[in-house]
Amino acid sequence: MYPELFASRMERVKPSSIREFLAAASQPDVISFGGGFPDPALFPTETLTQVFSQIMKNDGGQALQYTASDGLPSLRKKLAARMKKTAGVSCEANEIFITQGGQQGMDLMAKLLINKDDVIVTERPTFLGGLLAFNAYEPQYKTCGMDNNGMKVDELEDILKNTPKVKFIYTIPDFHNPMGVTMSLERRKKLLELANKYGVMILEDTPYREVRYEGEALPAIKSFDTQNRVVFLGSFSKILSPGMRLGWVAADAAIVEKMVLLKTAADTQCSTLNMFLADRFMEMTDIDEHIGKLRDSYKRKKDFMLQMMQEHFPAGASWTNPEGGLFTWLTLPEYIDSGKIMQERILPEARVIYVPSEGFYPQNPERNHARMNYSCMSEEKIRLGISRMGAILKDYCK
Ligand SMILES: Cc1ncc(COP(=O)(O)O)c(C=O)c1O
Repeated sequence: MYPELFASRMERVKPSSIREFLAAASQPDVISFGGGFPDPALFPTETLTQVFSQIMKNDGGQALQYTASDGLPSLRKKLAARMKKTAGVSCEANEIFITQGGQQGMDLMAKLLINKDDVIVTERPTFLGGLLAFNAYEPQYKTCGMDNNGMKVDELEDILKNTPKVKFIYTIPDFHNPMGVTMSLERRKKLLELANKYGVMILEDTPYREVRYEGEALPAIKSFDTQNRVVFLGSFSKILSPGMRLGWVAADAAIVEKMVLLKTAADTQCSTLNMFLADRFMEMTDIDEHIGKLRDSYKRKKDFMLQMMQEHFPAGASWTNPEGGLFTWLTLPEYIDSGKIMQERILPEARVIYVPSEGFYPQNPERNHARMNYSCMSEEKIRLGISRMGAILKDYCK
């Protein structure tokens, strides 16, 4: 009975094809390069315990109460200052509001802008969660190719020139999920120039931005924005805790105002208690020192995984070298289907999983890549997993 009653938009809302593979990650003998989780050993649990008890002692009444839909004023103020420091963006607290992670920002952006069959331009490949959020608003997609310098902006110009009804371009410029690559400075500027020229918005989704462990930090695309075309999404998930479900939107105040109305309709506000925790954590401790520890650990693990790949993977396999974030993107010869070989041999024989590339494309998926996460496994498991996987890949890459 139910399917007939569901709204037509539900036809586009489907579980991801990788769900069943990822379910295998919970089996104790499986080595998972599949998830995108930060390393839980790096959560600042002791400090957060102290911060929590201070909040309860001094501000319990407020922290357990409803608050404003756009978020705790002191946290918005701190984030406005932090946007300048970490992204080169000048903004005021009224140009920031707090969301349930970056994920909610994607939903609200699509809800604000997308009528059925409007076009969203995404990178190819792109973040699965972005597609999940956008699909409910029934958009059409155009996709723009990627290389080691991020979105190919020449290809983007062709798309914008030839496609009516493009509403926004969705990009993950820093340590892309799933590719791990970073958009060059030149392309950031060109992307904005094209958005201005063709009158479209940009959704700059950058939850990994502060987890840079190599190379020079690049300014956010939003830092060059003179026409209020960029909606910037930040997140506490990778720098503090994903379980706190806190992120933020930085955008023109008129856009913030509308998105906050949509947020109020969806969930009233983010958890006051969690916003207090993030706010007081930043007040009582040095969050940059904490982020420094994350960077050191992820860099070590990234270097180790790439070294193991170099030693164990066959010629014919290649991978990206991320300067930050949590993922590298493995490319196999075109005739190999990464999902099929994982199901047939890599999971049953090597007890290893990764995320096959198929789900990262809104259309015409490429199947010969895989997203490999290095943040969660110990070096020993990385060594074991990559060597076992390499032995099987050698059978295919002949
Ligand atoms: C590219 C990208 N955007 C957004 C998110 C959403 O993160 P959160 O909602 O936890 O902030 C993620 C999470 O992994 C991501 O990889």
